Amino acid sequence: MSDERPIGFFDSGVGGLTVLREVLRRLPAESTIYLGDNARAPYGPRSDEEVRRFSSECLDELAARDVKAIVVACNTASAIALGDLRKRFDRPILGVVRPGASAAVLSTRNRHVGVIATAATVRSRAYFGAIKDEDPFVEVYEHATPELVPMVEAGVLDGPEAEQAVRRSLAPLLEGRQDVADAVFPKPPGTGIDTLLLGCTHYPLLASLISQVAGPGIAVIDSASATASALASLLEVNGLSARRSDAPRHVQYTTGDVAAFRRTTDRLFGPLFPAVEPVALVGAA
Ligand code: DGL
Repeated sequence: MSDERPIGFFDSGVGGLTVLREVLRRLPAESTIYLGDNARAPYGPRSDEEVRRFSSECLDELAARDVKAIVVACNTASAIALGDLRKRFDRPILGVVRPGASAAVLSTRNRHVGVIATAATVRSRAYFGAIKDEDPFVEVYEHATPELVPMVEAGVLDGPEAEQAVRRSLAPLLEGRQDVADAVFPKPPGTGIDTLLLGCTHYPLLASLISQVAGPGIAVIDSASATASALASLLEVNGLSARRSDAPRHVQYTTGDVAAFRRTTDRLFGPLFPAVEPVALVGAA
């Protein structure tokens, strides 16, 4: 069986393209529609109610374009809204939290995993729950790192400014400093994490800098390739895989400014995502 309909992806902005990039590598026959809600990004500092509402509007937009499955390529939306979205849509929906959590559990040897994410994702405790579901004996240390998303959106991925921001952001997890202990739940690790999960789709763009700052004893894991593998299984199990590899189509929509979206994606990904079009979501102000 073959299903040539596109797969829908959405994120608050350009971060979810790190997931789409892995899917294009892993599933070259698939067509895709990507929706970035740039006009209302970032989702990370928003209330749960707003994240749920915005995510529903993104889902409706993709559903109206007859996608065969949806990837919620945003950790914040996956962490807060996935259950609601699944109730409202009769086709498969994949989030990025569970694939990332599984990858982190497979990676850790000392069962101490750090997670960096947006404030909303940390507040949801979604990674804590997903990692504990995989292995209840893993200690999970979640930390919000809000400085990093605007920096990535501005295209600052290396250099002294980026390095300082990454050092500041990781310090509570790496050093277990008591003066910032309140910012980390639970108490910072005594023995040290050996795995750091990037719980935000923007962070893979900083992966080499994060690895460098974290040091050689810490494996840096993200959800993108685990999500691409989970998507491949999901399509296969549901008889939804595309088989014709000759003419996949890819389009990216943004609720924000098309030229700004193009500039950002050119800077972050090169010429990988050129087909950008504007969209206005039904229900959005
Ligand atoms: N893409 C979002 C995520 O993975 C991060 C950006 C935002 O705060 O909207 O959580």
